[in-house]
Amino acid sequence: MNVLLLGSGGREHALAWKLVQSDAVSQLFCAPGNPGMATLLKTTCLPATGVNDFEAVLACVRDHAIDFVVVGPEEPLANGIADVLNAAGCLVFGPSRVAAQLEGSKAFAKAFMARHKIPTASYAEFYDADAALMHLDAVGAPIVIKADGLAAGKGVTVAMDLETARDAVNRIMRDREFGEAGAAVVIEEFMVGEEASIFALSDGGHYQILASCQDHKAAREGDTGPNTGGMGAYSPAPVVTPELMARIEAEVIAPTIRGMAAEGTPYRGVLYAGMMIAATGPRVVEFNCRFGDPETQVVLPRLKNDLLPLLLACAKGTLDRHEVRFDDTHCVTVVMASAGYPGSYAKGKAITGIDAAHEAGLYVFHAGTRFENEQLVTAGGRVLNVTGQGKDLEATLAQIYAGMAHIHFEGGWCRKDIAHRALARLKA
Ligand code: AMP
Ligand code: GLY
Repeated sequence: MNVLLLGSGGREHALAWKLVQSDAVSQLFCAPGNPGMATLLKTTCLPATGVNDFEAVLACVRDHAIDFVVVGPEEPLANGIADVLNAAGCLVFGPSRVAAQLEGSKAFAKAFMARHKIPTASYAEFYDADAALMHLDAVGAPIVIKADGLAAGKGVTVAMDLETARDAVNRIMRDREFGEAGAAVVIEEFMVGEEASIFALSDGGHYQILASCQDHKAAREGDTGPNTGGMGAYSPAPVVTPELMARIEAEVIAPTIRGMAAEGTPYRGVLYAGMMIAATGPRVVEFNCRFGDPETQVVLPRLKNDLLPLLLACAKGTLDRHEVRFDDTHCVTVVMASAGYPGSYAKGKAITGIDAAHEAGLYVFHAGTRFENEQLVTAGGRVLNVTGQGKDLEATLAQIYAGMAHIHFEGGWCRKDIAHRALARLKA
């Protein structure tokens, strides 16, 4: 069948890389895609088609006889792309607009978790800045402030002092730094623990949980410095023991899928549960309605199943006929970023050495690249996801960092300690 994949980042490159391994995929179209995806077999990129231009996406479905659409990023899902495509008779991997509110509205997600007794931080929501500020004075710091709506991963402030917390409320609600996403804020309890990401595929009634993984959101070594979209990731996450995974399934994944179905908004697609592993057990930090980036880049290489039938089963309601299987390797991805990221950075720096990294046994997913006069250049803050896989974590890390030395672009940098928590746990 002909498949259309929406998106252009490292996550979508990993999805495309896995999808084209399926014999059932005749042709893969990627809108808009990226230069890495363009090198894949059977793949055509449609760089002029934006993921939020639904008319253009529908035209593309017609023009290329698309049978199935896989949606990468959250924004088109929150805007209802799955509903629009379904109405046009096209199968889609990704939740409806209403179900995508699990990510699209923090207040929706918190109220849902409260209704279904899903463990998470206690919270209050505010539609008025003065009321939010008064609440802050009453509860004190540390405290977490979240813009209600989508804010490209930047709407959360973990405030260790009241000053920072007040500033976050003012920026979100008064300055409207994230536009209408800041019409409301959620103020929640600061949770202590180690984070892990759990993805579950769901067809609305059944679910299948994928291998555990963890990303590094902080920019600097030792998980310090400003928050980023993720500087690296690894799977499995040893913090998620089989006992803990069983609790996450029973206390979070199962009641979420059940609860969404019971409320008449069945969840179809991938449910991303960002977890805090606290002393008392697992608690939800956030839900996302799409695969994690860069976590997808380390989960999919370990998946033994053909990806297409699994994603298709989510759309068709037949996921109970499948069972996901993962190999026992460690997979790690290290992000090579532009100088200045996560602050402002220059683009257009020539990239060399990717072929040499491939020859060194690594796979390089493109996150922010483009062609300029036939030269591959940087086009984003997170540029490349250098990915390795092996039975031994320490050897895999050594291979990745050695292989990365072949890749060059001016100012390119990476965190040197990706997977340090996993390494420490495995050594202990
Ligand atoms: P989110 O976008 O909701 O995942 O938040 C971004 C990051 O902020 C998370 O990955 C956590 O590191 C941190 N965070 C969010 N909520 C909390 C919380 N209630 N307690 C502690 N850290 C949090
Ligand atoms: N890596 C974090 C996210 O995808 O939201």
